[in-house]
Amino acid sequence: MTIQTIETTPYADQKPGTSGLRKRVSVYSQPNYVENFIQSIFDSLDGYEGKTLVIGGDGRYYNDVAIQKAIRIAAANGFGKVLVGENGLLSTPAASHIIRHYKAFGGLVLSASHNPGGPEGDFGIKYNIGNGGPAPEKITDAVFARTKVIDSYKTVDAPDVALGEVGQHWSGDMVVEVIDPVADYAALMKSLFDFPAIREMFASGFTMTFDAMHAVTGPYAHAILEGMLDAPRGTVINGTPSPDFGNGHPDPNLVYCKEMFDLLMTPQGPDFGAASDGDGDRNLIIGKNRFVTPSDSLALLAANAHLAPGYKGGIAGIARSMPTSAAADRVAEKLGIEMHETPTGWKFFGNLLDAGRVTICGEESAGTGSSHVREKDGLWAVLLWLNILAVRKQSVDEIVREHWATYGRNYYTRHDYEEVDAAIAGKLVEDLREQLPSLPGRNFGDDLQVAYADDFTYHDPVDGSTSAKQGVRIGFTDASRIVLRLSGTGTVGATLRLYLERYEAPDGRHDLETQMALEPLIALADDLAGVKQRTGRQEPSVIT
Ligand code: G1P
Ligand code: ZN
Repeated sequence: MTIQTIETTPYADQKPGTSGLRKRVSVYSQPNYVENFIQSIFDSLDGYEGKTLVIGGDGRYYNDVAIQKAIRIAAANGFGKVLVGENGLLSTPAASHIIRHYKAFGGLVLSASHNPGGPEGDFGIKYNIGNGGPAPEKITDAVFARTKVIDSYKTVDAPDVALGEVGQHWSGDMVVEVIDPVADYAALMKSLFDFPAIREMFASGFTMTFDAMHAVTGPYAHAILEGMLDAPRGTVINGTPSPDFGNGHPDPNLVYCKEMFDLLMTPQGPDFGAASDGDGDRNLIIGKNRFVTPSDSLALLAANAHLAPGYKGGIAGIARSMPTSAAADRVAEKLGIEMHETPTGWKFFGNLLDAGRVTICGEESAGTGSSHVREKDGLWAVLLWLNILAVRKQSVDEIVREHWATYGRNYYTRHDYEEVDAAIAGKLVEDLREQLPSLPGRNFGDDLQVAYADDFTYHDPVDGSTSAKQGVRIGFTDASRIVLRLSGTGTVGATLRLYLERYEAPDGRHDLETQMALEPLIALADDLAGVKQRTGRQEPSVIT
């Protein structure tokens, strides 16, 4: 085998964001762009010689090209083996499981999650460590530092690997094993959930629609829902992954899944609707006449997890990202278990999960997961919901209402202002930060008194590391909250995210329309931050 050392020049923009390096395909297809980044990852790691690397992606445009490059660079750098999903496919949670299950050194996850795909869309590369989770900041910082000075990368002179053929292949001296992307993951799901009870529920007429959004969960959902759980064929829609996601936007929210949402709000619609995103780590849950916000879903799953065999001994603790509503905190309090608030991004849950301090984690951005892997997991959330429905024999709406009657309701919404001028957005956050010290104690309107105002700093209780400037929080004495932060996953300009939350006690009003319930906070947030005036936008781009 000939190892080639190819000279290269650095790119200045290869800083990994909230979840890996996401860029337009046009950026990624510049000469050596992929090579520089992957070599910089390997240069920032130690001790992988002869070890196994997992590679998989969500099937988006450019996956095939990038995977072949990654395999050659891995071979030249001395990995012993690559495990890659058939046709390059592995959902993000499945990749996490494969890394853990086969005790791999780490993995490359090729995805830009819920961002659009195709030649005009986005692409991404993320490195996951041996625990199956996204690399922590100390590694991503080292990778970024390396990308700024890299002057060569290694590759081998070997043909493309036939990714369509399951079995053993070679790239130079390195074994490349093409594996079934679904089998191991499906077995894991079967070990966690009461499949006979769910099968019985489908057999007795329960109906659902799962929208795979032309993305990676299609093969998983077909195999698990229609194959192992005997849901009728047709339960899974848009189930064939396509490089441009059927020319769609694989983000499972009420904007891009509007058709399914509308159907669930009619008597002839199914009992349950769910969807997942480009790489299969997000979830959308809709019951008949009831959309479940991701923050509520986290709380509900945590409160009911013991109904699934995999969690029957109870859960150790719950973690949520800071902007996620505090609904789960009330469940943790009642269960008498640990509750942690972390910065946005799944990588911050890894230490807590590894230390056994939490079992269930979630983010308001439609991500929920557990200690079974180290990524959020869309189908896992759907299956846990199905397990709960099968055991409780109630509708989603009934379960949600009972939950609110027990714990109270956290009205919650997120307003996104996308593709805002980066300088304007940066200044807006900076100016708001400057106001923070003057806010505590101040009254706004009749009922809002500021209890605290800060820029969130996280102290990781496991490794002692500190992450500062993770989002501005303004908390009120009645448990209402305004949070504002800049997205770390956008690829054009800046995305401003404004998160609003208000708590209603168990005996309070739970039937208000969400935007109405939050109106005073929405108006106050705009007064304090000047979002509309500074950005010139009258409305958010997306409301979730
Ligand atoms: C967004 C979400 C965050 C999630 C991340 C990756 O990041 O807000 O919760 O972990 O995507 O899916 P952001 O763009 O806000 O930095
Ligand atoms: Zn995703």
